[in-house]
Amino acid sequence: MSDPQQPAPGASAASTGDAASSSTRGVTSPQGAQPAREALRGDGLVKRFGAVTALDGVSFTLGAGEILGVLGDNGAGKSTLVKILTGYHQQTAGTLYVNGSETLLRSVDHARSLGIECVYQDLALANSLSIYHNMFLNREIVRRGPLRLLDHRRMREIAAQCLDDIGVHVPSVDLPVERLSGGQRQAIAVARAVHSNAKILLLDEPLAAMGAREAALILDLVMRLKEKGGLSIIMIMHNYAQTLDIADRIVLMQRGRVTFEQHSAQTSVAELMEIVRREYRAMRAAGGAR
Ligand SMILES: Nc1ncnc2c1ncn2[C@@H]1O[C@H](COP(=O)(O)OP(=O)(O)OP(=O)(O)O)[C@@H](O)[C@H]1O
Ligand SMILES: [Mg+2]
Repeated sequence: MSDPQQPAPGASAASTGDAASSSTRGVTSPQGAQPAREALRGDGLVKRFGAVTALDGVSFTLGAGEILGVLGDNGAGKSTLVKILTGYHQQTAGTLYVNGSETLLRSVDHARSLGIECVYQDLALANSLSIYHNMFLNREIVRRGPLRLLDHRRMREIAAQCLDDIGVHVPSVDLPVERLSGGQRQAIAVARAVHSNAKILLLDEPLAAMGAREAALILDLVMRLKEKGGLSIIMIMHNYAQTLDIADRIVLMQRGRVTFEQHSAQTSVAELMEIVRREYRAMRAAGGAR
């Protein structure tokens, strides 16, 4: 499957739309599965860490205003892709386009300056600090004057307003984050990213280790953000059904490649499971080697 001679799977790859009959070597991208206007596009992204090839020619498009679900097994390269999109890693090869312009993201700050924000798998909240402190972490509001004192009142007000705007309910923005549930914590991390003027929001497994109720809270929040407009969202997910529910389109990653992409309405959990099963069978037949 990981064949260096294979051309990078791309948006223009031919396909039949019938996943069960198409090869997993080339991406299955039925005609019309591409969005009209793009916010972000990767073309043939490769990332190597020494001898490990984490991304092996990944091409994808995030349409303006859409939710793109990225599915794939452990180690498929999903987080590596996100880290390239946030400027944390630079790709070994391949090209990124932000709003249609070729862009090499030099750093996380550079990506942020272009409106790309990420909520990481491990959240990166300061648990002992309050909700409002977390929302303004590293971008605190200071009062005018020589002492540059923190403007707690203003930060509290803005944090409460911002959470209210996107429908996140917490008893008080003074609560330390460690007192919140996993879902609420995730919601604060999302709110923080949105508050910082994100145009492209990347969520790496936002539902990890959450129960159904907490997951619903985050899925609702993401839907509300989409409906407000102006935001394009990539969500890395494990659960196929939840992903098909929330995402406009999905891409499936397997061993560093995109092997399938489709509008959510035009695929199913059964189809996705069949593709993954076929991959396991092929791997077993090949002796399990990557
Ligand atoms: N900094 C790194 N150094 C070396 N190898 C890495 C590094 N980061 C990721 N990898 C490797 O790249 C591959 C893809 O990892 P990645 O974290 O992107 O997978 P993932 O799809 O996010 O998996 P999961 O679902 O478990 O989060 C794995 O084989 C991983 O070990
Ligand atoms: Mg990951």
